[in-house]
Amino acid sequence: MRSTLSIAALVAAATGALINIRDEIPSPAPTSAYSPTPPDGTGKSQPIFPAGPPGGLNDSVVPSDIPDAPKNITTKFTAASCSGPVTSSPSSYWMTQMNHTGDARGYAPFINDYYTFPVWRNVLDYGAENDGTGDQAAAIQSALNTDGRGGNRNSSGVVTAEPAHVFIPGGTYTLNTQLDLRMGTIIMGDPQDPPILKAAAGFSGATLINGYDSAAGQPETSFFTALRNVIIDTTALDGATSVVALQWGVAQGCVLGNVQINMPSNSAGHIGINLSGGSTIAVTDVQITGGAIGIQNSNQQVNFKNIYFKNCGTAYGATGGYTSLLQNVTFDTCGLGVDLTVGSAGNLVMLDSTSINSGTTVSFTESGTSGGRNNQITIQNLKHDNSNPIAVNSAGVTRLASTDSVDTWVWGNAVPGGFQSGTSYTTNRSSSLLDSSGNFFTADAPTYADYALDQFVNVKSVSGYQVNGDGATDDSASLNAILAQAAADCKIVYFPYGVYVVKSTLFVPAGSRLVGEAWAVISGAGSTFKNVDSPQPVVKVGNSGDVGVAHISDMRFSVSEPLPGAIILQINIAGASPGDVGVWNSPITIGGTAETTIRTVCTDQDTSSCMAAFIAVHLTSSSSAYLQNVWIWVADHNMDGGSAYTVISAGRGLLCEATKATWLVGTGSEHNWLYNYNFNSASNVFAGLLQTESPYMQGDNATLLAPAPWVANSTYGDPDFSWCGGGDGRCRTSLSVNINGGDNLYLYNTASWAFFNGPWTGDYGTQCSGNCQVNMNRVSGTPGNLYWYGTSTKSADILILDGESNPAEVNNPGGWGSATTTGGNMVAYRQFS
Ligand SMILES: *[C@@H]1O[C@H](CO)[C@@H](O)[C@H](O)[C@H]1NC(C)=O
Ligand SMILES: *[C@@H]1O[C@H](CO)[C@@H](O)[C@H](O)[C@H]1NC(C)=O
Ligand SMILES: *[C@@H]1O[C@H](CO)[C@@H](O)[C@H](O)[C@H]1NC(C)=O
Ligand SMILES: *[C@@H]1O[C@H](CO)[C@@H](O)[C@H](O)[C@H]1NC(C)=O
Ligand SMILES: *[C@@H]1O[C@H](CO)[C@@H](O)[C@H](O)[C@H]1NC(C)=O
Ligand SMILES: *[C@@H]1O[C@H](CO)[C@@H](O)[C@H](O)[C@H]1NC(C)=O
Ligand SMILES: *[C@@H]1O[C@H](CO)[C@@H](O)[C@H](O)[C@H]1NC(C)=O
Ligand SMILES: *[C@@H]1O[C@H](CO)[C@@H](O)[C@H](O)[C@H]1NC(C)=O
Ligand SMILES: *[C@@H]1O[C@H](CO)[C@@H](O)[C@H](O)[C@H]1NC(C)=O
Repeated sequence: MRSTLSIAALVAAATGALINIRDEIPSPAPTSAYSPTPPDGTGKSQPIFPAGPPGGLNDSVVPSDIPDAPKNITTKFTAASCSGPVTSSPSSYWMTQMNHTGDARGYAPFINDYYTFPVWRNVLDYGAENDGTGDQAAAIQSALNTDGRGGNRNSSGVVTAEPAHVFIPGGTYTLNTQLDLRMGTIIMGDPQDPPILKAAAGFSGATLINGYDSAAGQPETSFFTALRNVIIDTTALDGATSVVALQWGVAQGCVLGNVQINMPSNSAGHIGINLSGGSTIAVTDVQITGGAIGIQNSNQQVNFKNIYFKNCGTAYGATGGYTSLLQNVTFDTCGLGVDLTVGSAGNLVMLDSTSINSGTTVSFTESGTSGGRNNQITIQNLKHDNSNPIAVNSAGVTRLASTDSVDTWVWGNAVPGGFQSGTSYTTNRSSSLLDSSGNFFTADAPTYADYALDQFVNVKSVSGYQVNGDGATDDSASLNAILAQAAADCKIVYFPYGVYVVKSTLFVPAGSRLVGEAWAVISGAGSTFKNVDSPQPVVKVGNSGDVGVAHISDMRFSVSEPLPGAIILQINIAGASPGDVGVWNSPITIGGTAETTIRTVCTDQDTSSCMAAFIAVHLTSSSSAYLQNVWIWVADHNMDGGSAYTVISAGRGLLCEATKATWLVGTGSEHNWLYNYNFNSASNVFAGLLQTESPYMQGDNATLLAPAPWVANSTYGDPDFSWCGGGDGRCRTSLSVNINGGDNLYLYNTASWAFFNGPWTGDYGTQCSGNCQVNMNRVSGTPGNLYWYGTSTKSADILILDGESNPAEVNNPGGWGSATTTGGNMVAYRQFS
């Protein structure tokens, strides 16, 4: 079996090194290498409003005119007896063998003359050489930039109108100058043979790979760039050179996964990843070797999952940002694990992590009951192997001495109990959520690298079933037949890029594996999804009670028009084992994109005219699923042309009623009307990094006060806002996280932001004055075993309305708090533990 980058091998090597000789621990990076960007409360910045791609968007499609799929398309499959697709050692990666030139290739249907636009690009076809010679920057840049029609994707308006999937075969690509990645692009190395992007000895520039696309405006709106299965190498440069291997100040929808960064050891100048600003939610499965600093972070909020740091001076340094989760991070022979002495990071949780043969684990600037109360820390389930201290303050005083393992240790605001200066707790974890070593289970996105082409079905080349993906045809009947057959045959289903409109529910049966090119889109349309009194799933994964496999990756789920009765993604199925049911790197968008009329029709401040979806994601009571890097976005602006602002009311974000086991790893949910997350009688939930924003048109002066224009419905566990006065607009605002009853709930790093109050006209410069809303989160129904570590809020009076302690921002400051904004910051909430 040809494997992906072997982190396990590195672990084994590291363990071997421990037994044999103790490697020399590099010195921590000198702090002068940092450029601090503390939380500054500047809030939202103006995105660039793109006019759309050159030539405009093809607006000829009116969803209500799309005829229903023909009724004579039926599922003809006979159930095969198979236990899953068959692995092998394929000679090349399946996706390169797909036909990328014929009719069954990906098309971007919402640009005019769409058939001339290449979605798929192999850098070798653009003149790149993978033999380590020359300078390949221009050729790779050309593969990223071209629109195939003489134009350049470097301008704005191409996030969803001109999506691209850029493939980089194995080999070494030498770069003399910086490579600029683009939005709307999956850049994918061959997972069987990851390519090396290598700085030439004569490389000139401050950054080798730049993931931030300035065409969007600020890093906070640099959406939809994925970089996977690559090795970035700066070892040809002197260790003293100041260079960043990867600039990753990017936003939601972005994916960084299965990336290895190699830098010289004992370096004073190399930085692996500079997350300078931005608002991304997940950085996963990264190995960083050498360098002065492995990761330098000031992004608003991130789940850093499975990061292996080896021989770094300082593994991770925060110069800003509000809440960060380091999950299953390893510091192997690093000078310093985490540096929280330079800027003002809000809070940090170090979870399920390991320090091997390294210096101090965390060095931090102490906060106390006076001052900014930043750099608050939770350390939970740490394994530690030497006599160096675990937590040391900036004056060099040890606050947590060496010990083999730590259950839970906190420094910062806690409820109940108030500010804690180094307190130990126990956290009683539910075994259903853990792997064999007692860590919370995680799983990386599938690459299907071990499957040959004959294990795949391309939905656009199934004999007898016409599938268009053109944004203008109801593909539901053919797709339902193909998915049923593929599951019965144990095949993996490949969606070339396209907009697959479904006017009836798309059913994803047990045994399904779905993977998209460039975030292929399934988009609901039509009357089936318009009845608010009878909401229906657009995509339904399994039936209640089903047990089996369902994997979804690199897809996007959307609505082609306002659909008040649409449950965009409903998961009913449970896995037999953790990870059997999973959704990775697959956003749900409601408005803002090329394929929906919402970008032109939703401008009325009375949002009853644009009730765009009922629920974005519903994890029903029978489900058990793993979600990683899933972003639910109700648009606040149009990414690819349309009206200058957009005013949308989408009812509910993610509703979790599951009880068996649910894992939410690096997810976000923004601008949903009643709540962004609702755990309603849910049990056994791990949620690591939940990012939310309240709808911009709620609060004082809102045209409609929640729940209006929706009706709170107990069938769906809706919060009814009965605790608010009838006309109280600051109280009748979306809840970031609503928890009602349930038990064994483990929340880490909730990032809950409010910026504006209604009406919404697209003016990002005018934020609400004072606080935008009263309550940010809410707990009711006395849940059992609720543990919540790392709560960060912006501009709400109360962090958590719970009827008990009701922690307030004034008593739990930090994070966004500054002279001009208010913020709440709390490391431990154990009111119901
Ligand atoms: C469905 O009917 C149409 C005409 O009504 C025909 O052209 C088409 O081949 C039929 N499709 C199938 C799968 O039978
Ligand atoms: C791709 O499909 C087209 C027809 O759709 C065909 O002409 C071409 O030969 C195919 N290419 C490969 C590599 O199979
Ligand atoms: C616009 O989209 C329609 C419907 O998909 C298609 O028939 C037409 O060819 C497209 N127009 C152009 C100029 O591409
Ligand atoms: C974008 O592309 C245009 C046309 O090729 C070129 O003139 C311009 O310099 C490019 N800008 C950037 C920032 O790459
Ligand atoms: C990180 O990126 C930001 C934005 O480009 C830049 O200002 C800063 O200098 C970078 N940090 C380093 C150490 O290069
Ligand atoms: C831990 O949680 C389990 C339920 O998952 C419960 O039965 C047990 O009593 C708890 N233990 C402690 C010490 O709270
Ligand atoms: C933790 O990371 C290591 C490598 O750093 C990996 O081997 C292991 O599978 C990860 N564990 C979990 C629970 O993700
Ligand atoms: C609540 O939802 C159920 C099921 O969709 C529906 O039948 C009922 O009418 C709804 N109730 C209200 C008050 O909207
Ligand atoms: C509400 O609107 C009134 C009238 O336009 C304005 O004076 C006031 O400042 C607004 N309040 C807020 C909180 O925006």
